[in-house]
Parts: sequence; C-alpha cells; structure tokens
Amino acid sequence: MIIQVVTLFPEMFEGVWGSSILKRARRDGRLDVRTVPLRPFGVGPHHQTDDYPFGGGVGMLMRTDVVVPAVEWAMLHAAHDARVVFTSPQGRLFTQRVAEVFSQHPHLIIVAGHYEGVDERARVLLEADEVSIGDFVLTGGELAAMVMVDAIARLLPGVLGAAEGAADDSFSREHGWLEGPQYTRPPEYRGLKVPGVLLGGDHEAVRHYREEMARLWTRERRPDLLEDQE
Ligand code: ADE
Repeated sequence: MIIQVVTLFPEMFEGVWGSSILKRARRDGRLDVRTVPLRPFGVGPHHQTDDYPFGGGVGMLMRTDVVVPAVEWAMLHAAHDARVVFTSPQGRLFTQRVAEVFSQHPHLIIVAGHYEGVDERARVLLEADEVSIGDFVLTGGELAAMVMVDAIARLLPGVLGAAEGAADDSFSREHGWLEGPQYTRPPEYRGLKVPGVLLGGDHEAVRHYREEMARLWTRERRPDLLEDQE
C-alpha cells in the first residue's frame, strides 16, 4: 500500500516512520509511506500556503491553489486511483471500521490540515473525505495523520507478526468490544494475584473468562459500543 502525507512539517514524521513496526513494514516493502512537503507548492516569492478567510473571521485557511496541485502531484506517483483524506476536527470520526476500509485501498493521500482548515473548494475538487481522530482540537493535522497511518498499517497483510495479531483487538470486527484485562509474569505481585482461570490451562474456560471480562469492561467504560450493536 502507498500512503502519502501532504504536510507543511515533514520532519515531524521521521521518528514515526523510522521506528518499530512501521519501520519494519517499510523495510519489508509492505507499506510505502512518505511525506509530500507542501511548501514548494506555495504561491509567490515566499511560497505562501495560507491566506485570510473571505468574509472575515479568525485564523488562516490553506489555499486551494496550493493544496490541489500538491495532491495532484502526489497522485502521479501511483497508477491506481488515490483516495484523498483531509484531517480536520470537522470530519467524520476515524474508527477501526474506517481504518479497515482505508487499508483496502492501494493508494491513500492524507492532507494534514493546518491553520483553521482548508478552502472548501479543495475538498470538492479532490473529492476528499474529511476525517477527525476524535472530539478534541489538535494544533495541526500531522498527529492525526500519524495516528491514521499507524492504525491502517497494522491491518496490512504481514505487517504484524503472529504474536502481534490484530484479530482480538478492541473494536476488531469479531465483536466490537473492548479487550479485557491482561496479565503476564509474575503470577503474584504485591499481593495481587493473576486470576486462577488464566493459569489453569483450560482453554475453553479462558475463552469464556475473556469474553465475560470484555463484555464487563465494555459495559462499564464504553456502553456506547454495546448500543451500536443493537
Ligand atoms: N486537526 C485538528 N484537530 C483534529 C482532529 N481532532 N482530528 C483530525 N485532524 C485534526
């Protein structure tokens, strides 16, 4: 899969692409993720990328005549039709389902929104999908783009090893619940014991215990997830 992130701050991504599982996925050729610096597409002698909103108001907007050419340039890098995503607190919510859908696309271009957002005509012209990572406001879309890339990458075939499998994850397609509590060695720490069922070797009992705990945690912490299933 190819993911390009159009950004004013490409240097922010280096640590994320260059570490851990994303680093391995790139090295193994499973994920081709790179940044497209927006600044060179800026207009005028100062490569301006933003401007004042028509009609007044606070903040600056990313210019459509900067964002559209940058995305069109990025599109040239793959033969497939690219799906274009803008990060924005005004977007629809990025969930595990959305990550699953995005991970099926061969080519994704994410525009990391900055300032007060992007001129609406850029979204229309590029048929972009506007996506938010949660009901809070970040200083820019770069962290949101990183979150999305990370969540998508781990769904790609072969990116996670067998020991890191994604099927049991919270929100996974299997049940849509939270994962319950997990324990590792030692079996007792400061008087707190690992639940006996996990030490007993009865796989059916373990499965049943985990399912019950998942249901309990979901009901306590995220009742909205249970309602979504009804
Ligand atoms: N940019 C600023 N806040 C954001 C959010 N919550 N999601 C995506 N992009 C953003």
